Amino acid sequence: MIPADIDLTRVPAHIACVMDGNGRWATQRGLKRTEGHAAGEEALFDAVEGALELGVKWLTVYAFSTENWRRPLDEVRYLMGFNESILVRRREELREKGVRIRFAGRRDWRVPKRLIKQMDESMARTAHCTTMTLVIAFNYGGRAEIVDAVKRIIEEGIPAHKITDKTIAQHLYLPDMPDPDLMVRTSGEYRISNYLLWELAYSELVFADVLWPDFRREHLIDAVRQYQARRRRFGGLES
Ligand code: FPP
Repeated sequence: MIPADIDLTRVPAHIACVMDGNGRWATQRGLKRTEGHAAGEEALFDAVEGALELGVKWLTVYAFSTENWRRPLDEVRYLMGFNESILVRRREELREKGVRIRFAGRRDWRVPKRLIKQMDESMARTAHCTTMTLVIAFNYGGRAEIVDAVKRIIEEGIPAHKITDKTIAQHLYLPDMPDPDLMVRTSGEYRISNYLLWELAYSELVFADVLWPDFRREHLIDAVRQYQARRRRFGGLES
């Protein structure tokens, strides 16, 4: 049930989440960091439920960044296997809920082939779903995305005088993805951390103190409440 003070006609169309704090959550409990990631799965699927109840059309989550390769090999390996396992175990449930799965990020040699296969399979199986799109930012970096866009623009031979904001936007990983209206980061860290650098230009930012494994749909709803209390001007004046 969505609380009555939430205006369902002004729900953000696109919410982007930074699922931060899994490691700290585990450490606080004397567990291994990887157990924090495992506990993050329930938070993710509760957030998906909340987004569906709210009528959000796009939900983007940061699952693995281009900087995360610097973590200990064990943790990187775990995250590769964990992402694959979530896709295999949960894509059918997402399909039944009308959730289309897409990915944003680099498909470089470091991403295991079997994970790429499951990513493709997950996209294919949910391609027809229209209730909501879940974008999984995987091996994603905001700077890498802009670099990749610039490379493709040059490769296509587009002359400098023809390049506008729109040209860049059309060469990002998911050109049809609308910019997020709201970005939520958990764990009390006030940073963007190379997430959707281009796309977040005018997004409202909400920082929640809760660590990601403790995040539930109520926290997402509260972020929407804060969003609805803000006045978005996009650099112009209040209308
Ligand atoms: C950040 O916590 C979290 C991650 C690096 C990974 C989170 C991934 C998931 C919950 C799975 C997503 C999978 C799919 C398929 C969508 P951290 O390790 O940076 O925490 P810390 O800041 O406390 O160390």
